[in-house]
Amino acid sequence: MGDKLRFGLVGCGDFGSHIAGVFCGVSDVVAVCDVNEAGAATAANELPGTQTTYTDYRRMIETETLDGVIVAAANFVHAEITIAAAEAGLHVFCEKAMARRVPECWDMVRACEQNHVKLMIGHKRRLRPPWARMIELTDESLLGRALSISVTQYADMRPYDYPGTWWADGNLSGGAFAMLGVHVIDWFRAMCGDVKRVWGMHGPRQEMYWSFPEIINATYEFESGALAAIHSSTAYPVHRFREAQGPMGQCAYGGFKLRPHMDHIDLYWQHLDDEKVRHERFDDLGFDHAYRLEVGDFIGWITEDRQPCLTWVEGLRCVEMMEAAYKSAVQGGAPIDLPLYPELE
Ligand SMILES: NC(=O)c1ccc[n+]([C@@H]2O[C@H](COP(=O)([O-])OP(=O)(O)OC[C@H]3O[C@@H](n4cnc5c(N)ncnc54)[C@H](O)[C@@H]3O)[C@@H](O)[C@H]2O)c1
Repeated sequence: MGDKLRFGLVGCGDFGSHIAGVFCGVSDVVAVCDVNEAGAATAANELPGTQTTYTDYRRMIETETLDGVIVAAANFVHAEITIAAAEAGLHVFCEKAMARRVPECWDMVRACEQNHVKLMIGHKRRLRPPWARMIELTDESLLGRALSISVTQYADMRPYDYPGTWWADGNLSGGAFAMLGVHVIDWFRAMCGDVKRVWGMHGPRQEMYWSFPEIINATYEFESGALAAIHSSTAYPVHRFREAQGPMGQCAYGGFKLRPHMDHIDLYWQHLDDEKVRHERFDDLGFDHAYRLEVGDFIGWITEDRQPCLTWVEGLRCVEMMEAAYKSAVQGGAPIDLPLYPELE
């Protein structure tokens, strides 16, 4: 018990105790914090072990003896919490989206680098077996490098009660892609590498309770020459969120498509030389495999300096891809070259 790392959780909403529960498997979560006192109390009850509750993360950081902080609070406070933790010498596991805009991300990175602490952003999607399998398919021995990917991410977000919360305010959440797109956009980078240029377009407004246009399309051109497009909309009654994110892609020697359903995920792929399409079925709906992988790697990175599956790079580049699409969209689809803030590199 005494050898385990000690963490404090900041943000005890829908997701906080879930990710902190994964930390409890390999470390101790000794304190929880949320500005909503009842939320903190609920998380403390749900998590094993004794947790002191706080409503002020600065007080938690000052008072507790911690090795690190888990940031699962709303997106608009990711940067300030990460910087405060880093300045106190604490490692940070921060949920995606890393922050709302790229300069905030660089502030987080600089604070962690200056204080010699680790910073991981929880982009677990690329680690989930069907999504990891598509990355694996880009190996030369299988389908080869990705050439073109398309994702139509139309979902019905009404059951999720986002209207009226910080999610619906682009200044607090980071905008449409922070809610619906962040996972797929990071996975694009895992498939195709770094981005060279971005085009974005907004569609007509329909649901005025979002502060941002809820229909947004973006096309990414990668340094490899590959293209990836995402079409996102929040008012499509035919698909629940979980069913909405099935990419199809063309690779050098064949193609694939993913079909997510509520209780399983089907992956189809075919090499140009194959006679028939191959089918693989995945049932991992708990996502816990991916959470255990990222959290286990975060602990190994801190304790043994092992190279982790994720760092802050995925988080920062994903925010950059989202921000560049918004920037292009407000300019009517003008091409935007990356890096978006060369002066900060
Ligand atoms: N990796 C994943 O699969 C995954 C899944 C869900 C959510 N998330 C991420 O987790 C984060 C939280 O999402 P959620 O769905 O739990 O949102 P939520 O709105 O349910 O919870 C956010 C919590 O942050 C708290 N908060 C706000 N400001 C705070 C502050 N200054 N100090 C302490 N607490 C503060 C709020 O009171 C709220 O309880 C988001 O960044 C989201 O993108 C990741």
